[in-house]
Amino acid sequence: MPWDKLFGGVNKPADAKDLTDLEKKHLPVLCAPDSVKAGACFEVVVEVGKLLAHPNENGHFIEFVELYADDIYLARADLTAVTTCPSVRFNVSLPGAVKQLRAFARCNLHGVWVSAMSIAVKE
Ligand SMILES: [Fe+2]
Repeated sequence: MPWDKLFGGVNKPADAKDLTDLEKKHLPVLCAPDSVKAGACFEVVVEVGKLLAHPNENGHFIEFVELYADDIYLARADLTAVTTCPSVRFNVSLPGAVKQLRAFARCNLHGVWVSAMSIAVKE
């Protein structure tokens, strides 16, 4: 894929039911409960390369993972090549009225990628 396409915005799969190898390597995979209680702490795991292993070497690695609740910024983890694995565990709580968790991951060679999952927050 051309450089200007990869770095011209946030990358999403063209067809979520038929992912390319590039998409499988870069899409962050979210693991969290489907339903949580407002204000209660819970765990979210974001892993890059779960669908297909992503390189983790000096010239090619995942630089960061960010977590959002809808458009609310929750957390970020900065990663380094070789010494950190692109799998991050966040402990968060949500205020309610949130519909989605969204994870962003940035590869130094292939840009920013986003995935989302629905979550129900009960009062
Ligand atoms: Fe990459």
